[in-house]
Amino acid sequence: MINLTRQRAFRPGAGLWSPAAMGIDHAQLDRDRIWHPFTQQRAWCEEEPLMIERGEGSHLIASDGRRYIDGVSSLWCNVHGHRHAGIDAAVAAQLEKIAHSTMLGLAHPGAAELADRLVELAPSGLSRVFYSESGSTAVEIALRMAFQFQLQRGGQHTRRTSFVHLRESYHGDTIGSVSVGGIDLFHSTYRPLLFPTHVVEPGDAEDLERVLSVHEEEIAAVIVEPLVQGAAGMLTHPPGYLRRVRELCDAFGVLLICDEVATGFGRTGTMFACEQEGIAPDLLCLAKGLTGGYLPLAATLSSERIYEGFLGAPEQYRTFFHGHTYTGNPLACAAALANLDAFAQERTLERLQPKIGLLWKLLDGVAAMPEVAEVRGRGIMVGIDLGAHDPALRLGHRVTVEARTRGAIVRPLGDVVVLMPPLSISETELRTLVEITAESISAACSDAYPASAKLAQAA
Ligand SMILES: Cc1ncc(COP(=O)(O)O)c(C=O)c1O
Repeated sequence: MINLTRQRAFRPGAGLWSPAAMGIDHAQLDRDRIWHPFTQQRAWCEEEPLMIERGEGSHLIASDGRRYIDGVSSLWCNVHGHRHAGIDAAVAAQLEKIAHSTMLGLAHPGAAELADRLVELAPSGLSRVFYSESGSTAVEIALRMAFQFQLQRGGQHTRRTSFVHLRESYHGDTIGSVSVGGIDLFHSTYRPLLFPTHVVEPGDAEDLERVLSVHEEEIAAVIVEPLVQGAAGMLTHPPGYLRRVRELCDAFGVLLICDEVATGFGRTGTMFACEQEGIAPDLLCLAKGLTGGYLPLAATLSSERIYEGFLGAPEQYRTFFHGHTYTGNPLACAAALANLDAFAQERTLERLQPKIGLLWKLLDGVAAMPEVAEVRGRGIMVGIDLGAHDPALRLGHRVTVEARTRGAIVRPLGDVVVLMPPLSISETELRTLVEITAESISAACSDAYPASAKLAQAA
């Protein structure tokens, strides 16, 4: 297999060959060579991988030409659809200039312009932009900024070395972001490697108040996913919770970090979830939808107060010693600028509102299904909870497989089926997606519990 790949690289007349003609079996190469994220490889290798080669609007297109609705926006990041003309053109135009130059010691126009646009869009008071490449790194950076800021304030603030996060929180996969993670399945293995934190109940402001009043002097920051805890299975917070979190942080002199990696760029119906409770955090983490789902780019926005806490003469070493090679990559910045242009030109958020209305109306039918325990979420972020089942049944996965045969890609979180299509999805596509999901849930459940399905039919 490997030799075939090499042969392809050296073959003259590149236009004349095709993978099939060359005898390249990509599915086998995948099984032989790839280690997929969040995936039990043994189970993966028992199934035929779906090879996505192209995309168009709300659809993913496989190598065999079959089309699928992208029901999870390619892991919650696609915004305006695939092959969006404006973003395609912006990336191509940037490629004519330069693909990458460093931001360590140099600047470039795209990064500067994008930072200005983000500050304009973000909740007021956030005035500085620090780039990286993923949601995990955006969070890692926010944690390190908060920690170092408190240290550099001096005096009793140097004791503020700890963080508060919510139970069931998810902020990424690097060691810092895992430290403030609260999903045992993903995080508990690594506890010996992680820094200690304080954990509070999601949506329970009194619990936060209690923890802050006991540990006030040792806490650098509270970190939350505003309104919706995505990876927890689209857990939602009661109205007013986020506002109260902000008030408590102010009252106890603690920084607030909002992780809008999942909720940002329109997913909850507004550009940022924070807007819905009229608050601004001290640090805001953005990624996923920042480039419209095109390229890896993340941003950690900070208040001027935090930024100023790092100023000083070089030899004072108040510098933020952090920066990745591809930080603020020009191609990614070009995609992000075009993404923001599309939001404005296509009135994306305005046109999203009726689709959110339709989606939740359609979901009423799903919530009424006997197989469904609960449907929850906000805006265009949906979790369809199938209730507690034997993990060995892999019910969520069965739904994914069924949906695939019907023309939609959905990816579950355990037995919670997630729907999070691109904001640009049409009403017709939305109807089809919900219809396929409902049919797939029925089929998967009757497949997993054949006896009860027969009983139901007989009744
Ligand atoms: C709220 C939140 N924060 C951080 C992350 C991590 O982002 P990434 O996968 O880009 O590192 C995610 C990913 O799903 C997320 O949902």
